[in-house]
Amino acid sequence: MSENSIVVVKDLEKKYKSGTHAVKGINFEVKKGEIFGMLGPNGAGKTTTLQMMGTLLSITNGKIKILEYDVESESNNVRENIGFALQEAGLDSLSTVKELIAFHVKLFGFRGVEIKRRVEQSLSLLDLHQYSDQMIPELSGGTQRRLDLAVSLVHDPKLLILDEPTTGLDPAHRSDLWTLLKKLKNEKGITIVMSTHYMEEADVLCDRLAIIDSGEIVAMDTPQKLKKTIGKDRIEFKLFESLNEEQIIALKDKFGEDNVSANDSFFTVRVDDGEETLLDTLKIIIQMEIKVKGTKVLRPSLDDVYLKYTGKRLEDLS
Ligand SMILES: Nc1ncnc2c1ncn2[C@@H]1O[C@H](COP(=O)(O)OP(=O)(O)OP(=O)(O)O)[C@@H](O)[C@H]1O
Ligand SMILES: [Mg+2]
Repeated sequence: MSENSIVVVKDLEKKYKSGTHAVKGINFEVKKGEIFGMLGPNGAGKTTTLQMMGTLLSITNGKIKILEYDVESESNNVRENIGFALQEAGLDSLSTVKELIAFHVKLFGFRGVEIKRRVEQSLSLLDLHQYSDQMIPELSGGTQRRLDLAVSLVHDPKLLILDEPTTGLDPAHRSDLWTLLKKLKNEKGITIVMSTHYMEEADVLCDRLAIIDSGEIVAMDTPQKLKKTIGKDRIEFKLFESLNEEQIIALKDKFGEDNVSANDSFFTVRVDDGEETLLDTLKIIIQMEIKVKGTKVLRPSLDDVYLKYTGKRLEDLS
């Protein structure tokens, strides 16, 4: 276990009684203060893995350590240090926001003035003050997710485990929740392990990602480095009229045979960094007297990465 790892997952396996081999020996570590994402198609084993981390599901083989505790033999210590918000958690209780938070504070054994203090702290942290006396079923989906988080944070856990925290939210509520999760990380130093179906979420929110498919991790790195494995950026040039043979040869001479591809109304040049080299590339092209209507920098996306490793497009899933 490296010094600043808060989670160590070693050769982790889960076989359900039905015979489904949902997790097939995965390994990863999560560092303190990281937001670590698990991205994968339906049935990949994300929820199964998160539930084993959260002591909610038994482990078939392998080990999970959270802080210095073993998830199986020291599950009480683990539970004291983690917060868990489940996929599609149901909060359909007939109480107010404040009452529900207070109920969870009491579940953790806090008493007296400490209850009020923790409820106040939760309401502030999650920006829920204005809803404190509202009945839970009346809240919008986004506010219910914030309440989910408030409830999972009442005992000041060091690690937060979130299963698809923004699924079903509209884009505005989704990005509000991203801001909030970043705040928890930056201001409270909370480490987050989460699953997601959303490429943009993985890209903007997660420090590191594991792409998981059929119970195995097929790629793991920062979103930036994963995108680099796909290859170079491309600059696309829109044309007034198609290139002639001479121009194509000149372009290939200049930028390299494999880096130029021409079509009727446009051509593309592959470069290491599209934004950095755009102006210089454009200058060369203008000097060659090629008339350009417009340009666009195309960078490899996480969707390309996902397709490479799983053979599927993530857009098809959500
Ligand atoms: N309680 C269970 N009993 C038997 N098999 C299960 C159980 N829960 C999940 N599975 C199976 O284990 C595999 C992994 O499921 P899991 O729910 O972990 O995937 P997931 O990555 O979370 O998928 P999703 O993106 O749909 O949430 C699937 O084949 C699923 O059908
Ligand atoms: Mg799931």
